[in-house]
Amino acid sequence: MATRDQWSSRAGFILVAMGSAIGLGNIWRYPYTVYENGGGAFLIPYFVALLTAGIPLLLLEYSLGHRFKGAAPLSYRRLSKKWEWVGWWQVFMAFFIVTYYTIIIGWALSYTYFSVGTQWGDDTNAFFFGNYLNTSDSFWDFGGLQWKVLLPVILVWIFVYFVMRQQAHKGIERLNRFLLPALIVMLIMITIRGVTLEGATEGLNVLLTPDFSALTNPSVWVAAYGQVFFSLSVGFATMITYASYLDKKTDLSNSGFIAALSNSGFEFLAALGIFGALGYLAHVSGSNVNEVVASGIGLAFVVFPQIINTFPGLNDFFGLLFFGSLTFAGLTSAVSLLEPGVAALRDKFNLTRTAAVNWVCGGAALVSLLYTTGGGIMYLDVVDNFINQYGLLFGALAMITAVAWVNNQLDNMQGHINQISDVYIGAWWKISVKYITPIMLLFMLTQNLADNFM
Ligand code: PHE
Repeated sequence: MATRDQWSSRAGFILVAMGSAIGLGNIWRYPYTVYENGGGAFLIPYFVALLTAGIPLLLLEYSLGHRFKGAAPLSYRRLSKKWEWVGWWQVFMAFFIVTYYTIIIGWALSYTYFSVGTQWGDDTNAFFFGNYLNTSDSFWDFGGLQWKVLLPVILVWIFVYFVMRQQAHKGIERLNRFLLPALIVMLIMITIRGVTLEGATEGLNVLLTPDFSALTNPSVWVAAYGQVFFSLSVGFATMITYASYLDKKTDLSNSGFIAALSNSGFEFLAALGIFGALGYLAHVSGSNVNEVVASGIGLAFVVFPQIINTFPGLNDFFGLLFFGSLTFAGLTSAVSLLEPGVAALRDKFNLTRTAAVNWVCGGAALVSLLYTTGGGIMYLDVVDNFINQYGLLFGALAMITAVAWVNNQLDNMQGHINQISDVYIGAWWKISVKYITPIMLLFMLTQNLADNFM
């Protein structure tokens, strides 16, 4: 058996866990999700979701990986032979996310380059969809490659491949050591600039003024739980894998709190900066903020370039900062989506790291090329929706069923965490994992099914 990779220290582990959590989800998904779901009032379901599902499941994953010392499939197998498939399910989800995640990093990389001299011109919408993506309206259009996307995506894959080939503490950990501090500095600069722009308060008001009636809307709660899972990287085998590279005696719960809270802090700062900038755009264009806010992709790649165009100074610099930070945030998460597959193949087939990395990166890179075809953006949407609305929820439910219900291992997992950790976890954790989270997951699954099919 090949020796297991290991992080250099506990700090190294916290760093990679933060790097995984802080990703595209924080910078372009979170601000819009808050806006769409009641503004300031969204923070209530968000924190409820964080405390009753996000952090509890994060700690459960840490404990599984740490106690059973395996990638997800092996860890579940050691829990009970019958449940290995849950690990594979989660590994596949991570694998498919990374196939389109790298596409968005590719866009961000291109836009980092376009920032120099604001090459996107005045009509940023036409530039993104027409000139850059160059997609077609037909679903089955495999022809018409989007050349301008293909090139950066290939660059991203080459870079990621060379990081992944090295042992985890050299490749992934070192990547995070460089990019994460840079990212935090860049974000703070963006936030300070964003909230001090003229008109910023108007944007912040829109973001922070609570609409309490939203709290009675079930889909707001579904959105909060969804955001917390994705943003914390919970339910995709990542944290099981990362925790399996820890030393025997390392604190788990305190590390989990640090990673989770810094992730939330990061997305909150990003939202402040971005909404400040949106307020500014509304101000200079004489419209109101609601008119300029756009969803996910549009927010980052259409509205933001527009903001940069009208900036009062240092346009190129702030373009570089924003798209550079999107690229950095994406890269540290992308490696954490690849590692579950790499580690799983190594455990299962006793492969060398290089061989496993060749298979996983090679396979994922091939699949990702599909999104650079004419109909690419539609496939991206289908895969993203399937994973976040069903795949993830089903996997998390299976994880809880396996640990808490069928094999009755919750007490043992709790004991494992408490034995080695600084922060004691008690009834709150058990009740959340055993009851609250699965009820929410079932509710979300039915809600999504109903939304899509009824
Ligand atoms: N948490 C990452 C983000 O916010 C995405 C991710 C999900 C990474 C699952 C790893 C595993 O973008």
